Amino acid sequence: MGGRNYLVAFLVSVPIIISLSSSVLGMQHKQSATIHITNSMPKGSGPMQVRCKSSHTDYGMHLVDEGDGYRCDVRERALYYCMAISGRRVASWHAFQPRRDGNRKAVYWLLKDDGIFLSWDNSSWVRKSMWETE
Ligand SMILES: *[C@@H]1O[C@H](CO)[C@@H](O)[C@H](O)[C@H]1NC(C)=O
Repeated sequence: MGGRNYLVAFLVSVPIIISLSSSVLGMQHKQSATIHITNSMPKGSGPMQVRCKSSHTDYGMHLVDEGDGYRCDVRERALYYCMAISGRRVASWHAFQPRRDGNRKAVYWLLKDDGIFLSWDNSSWVRKSMWETE
């Protein structure tokens, strides 16, 4: 009798635990942020190559035309680096940094002739990094 009661308790609790943990995972998923990158280099610069990665995720290299954008998800709350190559210039920067970016939904980056600019609202920009020449 006792063993059967344990079995019933087990069978009842497993689905509850599964649904609780999936709702926690769902919340984490909703909180995840997006990295937006815009190529605002001068006309004639040609497409740039952009690559973003964390220690667990690598989105690979993407070509981004002048005036176009690229975006990728922050899947785990970890540091994400992006790097860009435009002609003979190279930049690499912290595209998502948990301590800096907190619970913000979006981190915007403008890649311009005079540097790499951060915004959280896609409107006010602060320069965070510079291009280097290969
Ligand atoms: C950011 O703002 C620019 C200029 O208003 C707009 O063209 C672009 O679509 C916006 N980007 C995003 C990801 O909302």
